[in-house]
Amino acid sequence: MLDVARIRRDFPILQQEVNGHPVAYLDSGASAQSPRQVLEAVRRYYETSHANVHRGVHTLGERATEAYEGARARVAGFIGAGDARGLIFTRGTTEALNLVAYAYGLRRLKPGDAVVTTIMEHHSNLVPWQQIARLTGARLRFIPLRPDGTLDLSDLDRLLQGARVVTLTLASNVLGTINPVAEIARQAHAQGAIVVVDGAQGVPHLKLDVGEWDIDFLAFSGHKLLGPTGIGALWGKPELLEGMDPFQFGGSMIGRVGLHDSTWAEIPARFEAGTPNIAGAVGLAAAVDYLESVGMEAIRSHEEELVDYAWRRLGEIPGLSLHGPRRPRASLISFGLDDLHPHDVATALDSQGIAVRAGHHCAQPLMEWLGCPATSRASFYLYNTLDEVDRLARALIETKEFFRDAAI
Ligand code: ALA
Repeated sequence: MLDVARIRRDFPILQQEVNGHPVAYLDSGASAQSPRQVLEAVRRYYETSHANVHRGVHTLGERATEAYEGARARVAGFIGAGDARGLIFTRGTTEALNLVAYAYGLRRLKPGDAVVTTIMEHHSNLVPWQQIARLTGARLRFIPLRPDGTLDLSDLDRLLQGARVVTLTLASNVLGTINPVAEIARQAHAQGAIVVVDGAQGVPHLKLDVGEWDIDFLAFSGHKLLGPTGIGALWGKPELLEGMDPFQFGGSMIGRVGLHDSTWAEIPARFEAGTPNIAGAVGLAAAVDYLESVGMEAIRSHEEELVDYAWRRLGEIPGLSLHGPRRPRASLISFGLDDLHPHDVATALDSQGIAVRAGHHCAQPLMEWLGCPATSRASFYLYNTLDEVDRLARALIETKEFFRDAAI
């Protein structure tokens, strides 16, 4: 059982009112808030240890390098990666997925090879692969969805024939579906494909172990797991990364540079061209420490309670449609309210201090499948309360009544 009142005291941003109401932040699926422990770690780094990494022999340079490499080890440990060399810091999930697409896909795929993915992907795990398919002659194949928004795996064997890459999200940012990634990885490997997982919505909420799941690459973002923006990671099996050429070129990633040719550094430096986001990495490690001190299992059960309750409360509102499977689900709920535009719904909620996201959620093919241009989405994290769910439900009923009266 989480002591949510105590947790909330760690989040300065949650102590304020928005539009005359205590803020109910239900948009952690887009960006989570940071506890003071993260903010302080970043400030402390700048106040005591900032310099460039892997360069200066001076004391501050060594401290910065230690902080950065220490962060790498912490973040690798959080996802169950024993060998921190497989953890590459990136700007976020999008850059991490582009890294795999370009450094692995572009070099390895041939005309006729298949890349298997799903129709529930965020654009960041679809558009890069569209580009790679265009450049290599590979084809994209899509695992379809069942009516409840879970993957229909009945034809997976056929879809996997000739596949070199299977790339899918661990948790849908719209439907909340949690995909059976380990099971899909087992089947994909049997067909000789590698497995790339978009963990943006999954890693912040689910305890996972890359070794146990036997996936090949995992991408995730810091800002969805209580860390700063502009930092994220790609974890890859070290033996795969070692056989790959870099994605970006410049300082830090080289072995030796001549006028006409260069060699590459060992991993992970090979994939981290230029000065990295050192403070971001320090903040991300502090976020991981915070989550582990609270306990990922405890966080998950709290979120399950919130999302279950929200499903029930919102489901009681006439004219409100809920998207995705009932259970299990990631800690978010997308919905439509009558024929109101989700932006109007989100604006009405904001006037009551309730922050939700509205739009196509960077998943336009999925919107087409749902048959609507956009949805509203409430997403939860460890600091949210059942009371905030009640406020959301009440505000939705009021919004419905307001627009009904306005139409008369
Ligand atoms: N990908 C983020 C979301 O789903 C921004 O909201």
